[in-house]
Amino acid sequence: MSVRILALVGSLRAGSHNRQLAEAAVKLAPEGADVVLFEGLADVPFYNEDIDVEGNVPAPAAKLREAAQAADAFLFFSPEYNGTIPAVLKNAIDWLSRPFGAGAFGGKPVAVVGTAYGQFGGVWAQDDTRKSVGIAGGKVIEDIKLSIPGSVVRFAETHPADDAEVAAQLTEVVTRLHGHAGETAAA
Ligand SMILES: Cc1cc2nc3c(=O)[nH]c(=O)nc-3n(C[C@H](O)[C@H](O)[C@H](O)COP(=O)(O)O)c2cc1C
Repeated sequence: MSVRILALVGSLRAGSHNRQLAEAAVKLAPEGADVVLFEGLADVPFYNEDIDVEGNVPAPAAKLREAAQAADAFLFFSPEYNGTIPAVLKNAIDWLSRPFGAGAFGGKPVAVVGTAYGQFGGVWAQDDTRKSVGIAGGKVIEDIKLSIPGSVVRFAETHPADDAEVAAQLTEVVTRLHGHAGETAAA
C-alpha cells in the first residue's frame, strides 16, 4: 500500500520556487510514496471560530481537512516572510488543528523544508512552522531539514528537479519521511 504524503506550499505566486520544490518532490518520490500537492490554500478563509461550525465548514476548508485526513504524513514547503511563516501556511495549520484534540494532524509525521531568498534559506520560517505544527498535533520529525538559500538566483533558470544537489536532498527528505510514515502505520 502506498504512503500518501500531503504537500502544503506556503507561497501562492505562480512562479513560486517552493511550489517548484514541491513539484520536484512529487516527481522524485520513491516507490511506495505518493506525494500529493494540495491545491486550493488561496481559497481557504482566515480561520474564525464563528465559521468553523460542524456540518457547515466553508467548502475550501473542508476540502483541506479531508485531504489531511486522507494523508499518512505531511511535507511543508515554506518560504520566509519577514522572518517567519507566511500567513497562508499558518492559516492552514490553524484549520487543521481543530476540532481541538481531534484535528487532522493526528500525530502523523510532519517534515518541513523550503527555500527563500535570504542567506539562511528561510530557516526561521521553517523552525516556526515546526513549532506550530507540533502544537497543532503533528509529530514533527525535527531532524529532517532542508533550507535552500538564494532561491531567486539559484532557481532563476533551473527547476529544482533539474538541480542535481537539490534533487538528491529532496529525495532523501521524502524517503526518510516515507520511512517515518511507515513506522507510524505499523505502530
Ligand atoms: C512579504 C515578503 C517578505 C519576505 N521576507 C523574507 C525574509 O524574511 N527572509 C527571506 O529570506 N526572504 C524573504 N522574502 C523573499 C522570499 O524569500 C522570496 O520572495 C522567495 O522566493 C519566496 O518564495 P517563493 O519563490 O516560493 O514565492 C520575502 C518576500 C516577501 C514577498
